[in-house]
Amino acid sequence: MSMNLVTLLYLVASVCFIQALKGLSHPTTSIRGNLFGMVGMAIAVLTTAALIVELAGGKAQGMVYVLGGLLAGGAAGALMAKRVEMTKMPELVAFMHSMIGLAAVFIAIAAVAEPWAFQIVTKGLPIPAGNRLELFLGAAIGAITFSGSVIAFGKLSGKYKFRLFQGAPVQFSGQHLLNLVLGLATVGLGLVFVATESWTAFFAMLALSFVLGVLIIIPIGGADMPVVVSMLNSYSGWAAAGIGFSLNNSMLIIAGSLVGSSGAILSYIMCKAMNRSFFNVILGGFGGEASAAAGGAQEQRPVKSGSADDAAYMLGNAETVIIVPGYGLAVARAQHAVNELAEKLTHKGVTVKYAIHPVAGRMPGHMNVLLAEAEVPYDQVFEMEDINGEFAQADVAIILGANDVVNPAALQKGSPIYGMPILEAYKAKTVIVNKRSMAAGYAGLDNELFYMDKTMMVFGDAKKVVEDMLKAVE
Ligand code: TAP
Repeated sequence: MSMNLVTLLYLVASVCFIQALKGLSHPTTSIRGNLFGMVGMAIAVLTTAALIVELAGGKAQGMVYVLGGLLAGGAAGALMAKRVEMTKMPELVAFMHSMIGLAAVFIAIAAVAEPWAFQIVTKGLPIPAGNRLELFLGAAIGAITFSGSVIAFGKLSGKYKFRLFQGAPVQFSGQHLLNLVLGLATVGLGLVFVATESWTAFFAMLALSFVLGVLIIIPIGGADMPVVVSMLNSYSGWAAAGIGFSLNNSMLIIAGSLVGSSGAILSYIMCKAMNRSFFNVILGGFGGEASAAAGGAQEQRPVKSGSADDAAYMLGNAETVIIVPGYGLAVARAQHAVNELAEKLTHKGVTVKYAIHPVAGRMPGHMNVLLAEAEVPYDQVFEMEDINGEFAQADVAIILGANDVVNPAALQKGSPIYGMPILEAYKAKTVIVNKRSMAAGYAGLDNELFYMDKTMMVFGDAKKVVEDMLKAVE
């Protein structure tokens, strides 16, 4: 296989990856985007495998292990992706990020141990300083990504008792200073490795990077977790790109840079959606306030509650209805029932629109994916900035399993989520809220919207409640 052919195939794979990103930017093109991604990855992996065999002069015995790894990893990945529930996707994504980080660390260790095996240098010669720098950066970012993603996994799953795995932030005095000192020490040790090729410096740098990954993520919690997901996505890309430079593999550099930069753009979009500073996120240790109330006791106050029949009556008599889906809708898997309800209302002449908050659910685009699965028409789905102006004219805003994204506390100075843009459902003439109890949302805050005079709570699992409404709408 000539190097020209390898370069050409890598180019084709890169174009596929770019097309994949383009396709994934909209639900209508996302399936095509995924297909491009799969084809690109298949071309990249097969070309790399052929290249390894070629470079080893056709005697790459190690390929048996590589193929074994590909089969085992591919099968495990396919099985996990097939089995995972929609609500567990964020944890799966965090798990994948952690694996990319760990892979970068292992490759860096192997490359430092036997650089000639990676064609970095001829056996017996020292690794050039430039390569050492790349290995240091790839390994450090990989280690931070790994341990940070493990913490994010725990926080997103919310089922572990271990304190660091809980949604509420872990903060202590001098945290930022400690992070700064550890960050500088990591860079210092990395530079010692670059200058001397010392194994001690390399492993000390790796150990500090693992600790740093934990320390960067533990103070983030509650409503700010979306930014963590996209930030770790970005870190995992840069770790891969760093290792790509060390291995002189243009495919890894391109794929890593695409993941790194698209993750960074997503982080920026998430920061804007949450009204948080991008640099605070990159440096870690923000968002503590936003979740300080997490787990706090909820005040017992009276609310107006009604049945699914009452809600159906109000919906059936409205001219315009805005549906606000949230995480609870995904938990209840009520998307199909909601679509049927919307269809029935539309048939009766009611104008129905869906309002999507950028961080509703537990992963970027969660609600869009959910509604697309139920084949909700895209022209009924509106992003926050496009629909907020319409709530005041809406007869009914019906909130299904959403909480933080409609919490007017975000408008009050001093509130832990002050400044976070919300869907302005509180402006609608009537508000119907469906959830199972008066429990708080992910940020752990009470929601004033539930106590408003114009609000009717309909308690129960979203699927059951929506199905009951569907039956009751005449
Ligand atoms: P949440 O604030 O988490 O509220 C969801 C509500 O759904 C809960 O109050 C819960 O109340 C209710 N619920 C749960 N299961 C239900 C069921 N089966 N039927 C009916 N209701 C049910 O959700 P949200 O408004 O979508 O906001 C998302 C939050 O997650 C934000 O704080 C966001 O920052 C955070 N977050 C987002 C992401 C991304 S990237 N989107 C990632 C991590 C974290 P009950 O228990 O009383 O039913």
